[in-house]
This record gives sequence, C-alpha cells and structure tokens, in this order.
Amino acid sequence: MRVRVTRLAVFTSRNGQLVCDVPARHRQFGLRPAAWLLLTHYTRWAEPRDEDAALVKQLLDAGVLIAEGSAEHRQEEEMGPWRSWGTAATYFHLATRTLDGEHFVTAVDDTSRLRQKAEQEPEPDPFKRYGTHSLALPTPMELTPALDRTLRERRTIRRFDDTAPVTLEQLSTALHWTGGVQHRFDIPGFGEAVLKASPSGGSRHPVEIYPVVRNVGGLAPGLYHYAADAHALEALPGAAPDTETLLHWFGDQTFVARAGVLFLYTAMLERSAWKYPTGRTYRAIYADLGHVSQTAYLTGTALGLGVFFTAAMRDEPIEEVFGLDWRTEIPLGINGFGVPHPQEAARLREMAAGGPPGFSYPHDEWDGLG
Ligand SMILES: Cc1cc2nc3c(=O)[nH]c(=O)nc-3n(C[C@H](O)[C@H](O)[C@H](O)COP(=O)(O)O)c2cc1C
Repeated sequence: MRVRVTRLAVFTSRNGQLVCDVPARHRQFGLRPAAWLLLTHYTRWAEPRDEDAALVKQLLDAGVLIAEGSAEHRQEEEMGPWRSWGTAATYFHLATRTLDGEHFVTAVDDTSRLRQKAEQEPEPDPFKRYGTHSLALPTPMELTPALDRTLRERRTIRRFDDTAPVTLEQLSTALHWTGGVQHRFDIPGFGEAVLKASPSGGSRHPVEIYPVVRNVGGLAPGLYHYAADAHALEALPGAAPDTETLLHWFGDQTFVARAGVLFLYTAMLERSAWKYPTGRTYRAIYADLGHVSQTAYLTGTALGLGVFFTAAMRDEPIEEVFGLDWRTEIPLGINGFGVPHPQEAARLREMAAGGPPGFSYPHDEWDGLG
C-alpha cells in the first residue's frame, strides 16, 4: 500500500511549531521535527519504509497521509471546480463547512455571552463617520410601481444615456433603501441595534456604501461616503476618477464608466466578527452583499433607472484611494445606476410587452454589433 501527503492539507506555523491543518476534518496537528522530515519523503506516492511504520499509521489516522486507492484518494482525483479554484478556496470552504457534530449555541446563551463580552469590549459602532464636510440629502421619493411590476422589470442594464444625469432625489432614494436606517434602538447591556430594508446576518449590517458620483444633478463629481445614521453624504478627499481610472478599478468594463453613480460596497469586518468570531462569517458577509444589491436593483428599477452589479474590480488601487485596510474593511463590489439609453429603454419596453428577450449589451459592443 503506497501513501502520500494529502493535497487538502495546509501547512503553517504557530508558536514556533510547524502545524498541519486538515480542513476537511477541522483538525490541526503540531508536527514534531521527525514527522515533517518524514512527510518530505511522502510528497509522492511511496511504500512506507519499515522505520516509518508507527508514524505513518498515526499520520494516516490523522488524515495527513492518504492511502493509494482510498476514498480520500478518489476524492482528490475528482475535485471538480475546486481544482481550478485552487488551494485557498478549497481550504476556506472545507475549514468553514459545518460538520455533523457542530454545536450551535442557543439565542439565550449567545446573548448572555455577548453581554459579558460587551463589558470588556464594547460593540463596534454600527455607523462609520468621517466627520468631513457633510451634505444633507433630500427626502426620499415615493416608490409607486407595484412590487410585481418592479420584480418583472428588474434587469441588469449596461447601456446608458451618459449625458442624462441621475437626479439628487433618485440618488437619495436609492441610498435610503439600499443603506438607510429604518429603525434603531438600544438593547440594554448590549448595544445599539439597527434595522434596514435588507436583512443582515445577526443584524450586524457590515456593508458601507461609498457613492462614486459621475453625473448626478446638483452634486459635484467625486468620491463620497454615505453616513447612514444622518442620511447624508460625506465628501472624501481625492479627485473624481476619470473614465480610464474607473475602467481600471472595475475590471475594464466600459459600461461602468457610463453610469451616473456607482455604489462601492465595503464590509466593516469588526461589526460581524464581534458577534461571530468564526471564519464562516466571511460567507455571511457576501450573503449580506447579495441582499443589499437586490434592494438596490429593485429600488433603481422602481425609479426608472438602469442598474448593474459587478464584483469584477482591482481591489488594490480601490483600497489605496478609499484608505481601506484589508484587516478591517474590505471592498466587495459595486452597483451602478444610470439613465438607460433611449434605445435600451425601448428594447426593455418591448421585452416587457412580450418582445424578444435578450441581455443588455454595453454601448461599445452594441455599436460594434450594429
Ligand atoms: C455576483 C454577481 C456578479 C456579477 N458580475 C457581473 C460582471 O462582472 N459584469 C457584468 O456585466 N454583469 C455582472 N453581473 C450581472 C449578471 O451578468 C446578470 O445578473 C445576469 O446576466 C442576468 O441578467 P439579469 O440581471 O438581467 O437577470 C453580476 C451579477 C451578480 C449577481
């Protein structure tokens, strides 16, 4: 029987010791020098040497080594999409996959744990503020179309009339529903609870919105932060990004630079981590983002705007310009809003009335397609 080191293990170091992490089993093993020397011999299939017999058995039991032809071996041969998604994605998935014996705390136990925690470490502020020049936003508009009509008409739009501005009232309405506060109240001994239009895991609402304004009536183009607690915009330092910069930030997708305003979403990690100190929380943050984006889509559609979402972006330059540190706040994706191009608006009307269905193609490609 030949054996080799599992491809699913990850090696790291902790407290001066080499550690082997077997994420599928949620197990970590500190490796003695004899074990790591032994493992270097079994990075390819090999018959166990006589002198290794006892240690090989221990490492097989631990799942650090696997046997040729075993169920674990077959699994590693048939990894499906995980093969191209690579070690990092596979490791994260397995390490945060709950096992059959997972213990879930009750809401009562969890609340008492958090009350104790709050005494040592106060809950992170649910609102971020820059304290820069702040601009009050107008009262949000009424959304009149019926929900079923809005749901039916919601599409991803990539072709805009880039001469037509989004109005300040439309921007205010989109911000109100996408990131605005519906209710806030104190939970004694705990902290402040916030409720918004979109659901959020543990009501942590980690998502912040940074409007990147290109063409909004009555608002200077530039970078802003949405102060959700005040329904106001805070102007951020830095020039309004030009077309080339926007394309560079957002994955070279031409339609992004034709929208009137982009909502850059970030996550304030501590808000979620304070309540949920487990890696699985990273998944919930992206589920939160999906809910926020759908609310943005529906609001924009009800306002007669075209909306898109993309997660294709170059994190590094965005982090630099917005002063984001990946240890505390990470960029997640963007929604863009703009006035649909008249030809696009006509196509959407036709499609809604039973005409030919199709995707919205960006301006440049559309022109290329004639
Ligand atoms: C997570 C996610 C990422 C997306 N990324 C992109 C993108 O990078 N570029 C793009 O043109 N559309 C992107 N979209 C929009 C999808 O292409 C669009 O939703 C899909 O084609 C279906 O069209 P519909 O939204 O009109 O139903 C994304 C949508 C989601 C939910």
